[in-house]
Amino acid sequence: MNNLCDYLSEFPRFRVAVLGDLMLDRYIWGNATRISPEAPVPVVEVTRSSAVPGGAANVARNLLSLGASALAVGCIGCDQDGEELRRLLEQAGADISALQVDSDRPTTVKTRVLAGNQQVVRIDSENKAELASALRQKLLQSLQQELQAGNIQALILEDYAKGVFDQEFMQAVCDCARAAGVFTTLDPHPSHLFSVQGLKLMTPNRAEAFTLAGRPFQPSRGVPLEDQELLRVGAILMDVWQPKLLLITLGAEGMVLFRRDAPRPYHIPTEARQVFDVSGAGDTVMATMTMALLAGACPEEAARIANAAAGVVVGYVGTAAIDAQTLRGRLCGQS
Ligand SMILES: Nc1ncnc2c1ncn2[C@@H]1O[C@H](COP(=O)(O)OP(=O)(O)OP(=O)(O)O)[C@@H](O)[C@H]1O
Ligand SMILES: [Mg+2]
Repeated sequence: MNNLCDYLSEFPRFRVAVLGDLMLDRYIWGNATRISPEAPVPVVEVTRSSAVPGGAANVARNLLSLGASALAVGCIGCDQDGEELRRLLEQAGADISALQVDSDRPTTVKTRVLAGNQQVVRIDSENKAELASALRQKLLQSLQQELQAGNIQALILEDYAKGVFDQEFMQAVCDCARAAGVFTTLDPHPSHLFSVQGLKLMTPNRAEAFTLAGRPFQPSRGVPLEDQELLRVGAILMDVWQPKLLLITLGAEGMVLFRRDAPRPYHIPTEARQVFDVSGAGDTVMATMTMALLAGACPEEAARIANAAAGVVVGYVGTAAIDAQTLRGRLCGQS
């Protein structure tokens, strides 16, 4: 294997489009020292609040903090949350010229109330109806323009089932990227039993992989490469979707990589030293894996880099992004 750190130096050369369900992750921080007299719930005394790009927007944020350029393609609502998300993406350095405003729905917002570091409740504001076909058309057109101009080197699809994707639209964007010689990676949603062809990579987690493969969920039974159900699920997904690579993330057990051109899957155990908050770890895996592949890493190397990155972000509270310097520190210590 090459020195994994060398690939990180290549990241700033690339511009990547993220198309999918954009969200705003809001955090309300405070202290809880008493129970409400009104109902058996804690009273949180607010000390501060913050907001960061979430969902597909968090993948864009990860790409940017890894040193790449990012084009965010998706919809926000015609509301203050949408404007805040637009501003946050812009501040992070994303190209927001392909954002569309959907006046039929609110911006998707996930608000977490935290007392100390403990999440007390999450409040979701969203409309999961299918996007109007005119809006899908606009998203496709902006993407197509960028692809045809040669401005994009990879396309990431982030499906959180909030209305952006149906099978036809996903296949259309994938075909469009392929025509431009650009590879597409997908973080799939388990409710979307599609079979889109032409993907370079899919990154479901364990539960998502079982659902997508139509198999009843089985928790892990120790060694992933001896986990017959997991291997069967991997084989089904490789067969139905035919991606070149399938990376099933396994939470505390790391990840398993399936390659169309390799007979045996490859397991990477977790790199995490401390675990505070696993939300957003999947987004970090997607951003880092895509960048590493672009930089010329072989799939096993790319998965090791992604696994190291995820091992860092699970140690942060809240939706977090990995930065190139921290990742370099983690990788250089091990390679
Ligand atoms: N409890 C944990 N301990 C150590 N590492 C973890 C843990 N949870 C997640 N990770 C790391 O993060 C990666 C992705 O995690 P996971 O499989 O939970 O993805 P996910 O469910 O898609 O995450 P997300 O919450 O972002 O959707 C794992 O492959 C692993 O490297
Ligand atoms: Mg995920």
